[in-house]
Amino acid sequence: MTSLQNLLIAGFLTTSALIGTTLLHLLRDRRQWRMLRDDPSLVPAAVEEAARHDTAIQAFRRTTTGPVTLAGTKLPAGATVLVAFGAANRDEERYERADEFDITRPGNRHHLAFGHGPHGCPGSRLAREQLRLTLELFTRRLPELRLDEDRPSPRMRPTLIHRSPQDLYVTW
Ligand code: HEM
Repeated sequence: MTSLQNLLIAGFLTTSALIGTTLLHLLRDRRQWRMLRDDPSLVPAAVEEAARHDTAIQAFRRTTTGPVTLAGTKLPAGATVLVAFGAANRDEERYERADEFDITRPGNRHHLAFGHGPHGCPGSRLAREQLRLTLELFTRRLPELRLDEDRPSPRMRPTLIHRSPQDLYVTW
């Protein structure tokens, strides 16, 4: 039962958050929404850029299994660390204009939005597919989709770990 609960949380909160933030950024920058609508071959790159730029799981707590030196800092076994996937994905040494959302950014598949290594996210392919299908469907079926200016501006959920709009009012 606990495993099922964990799977539902791991698989639902994350993907709905990523779909929400992706639509938010695309609709705020209608130039990129129009680019995607006019050229669906950009969808896979948009999926990766969205996952990188507004990383749905910002960080996870981990425990070191042995002594390790990380970026010059020595840690003993059993140390608690916060692995900040979101910060890594905005590293200026890795990405030019790291804070910008740019669906034409080249070679951005190797971000850390889904973690890395033996405990990397087993649902990443499913999550990517869900976002891909959502973007393909929305750009095709609701090409005039836009933020509803008559409703309050979208706010993000006030949490440290999950990035997600609290609400997202749209119209078409
Ligand atoms: C946008 C969607 C998603 C994001 C951003 C995301 C992100 C992550 C991250 C960052 C980790 C930790 C990886 C690490 O420590 O290296 C993780 C682990 C995990 N994810 Fe996801 N995930 C998503 C969707 C899903 C889906 C759809 C499922 C299942 C249906 C899933 C199941 C899991 C499970 C079971 C783990 C734990 C793996 C382990 O500890 O060995 N995730 N995810």
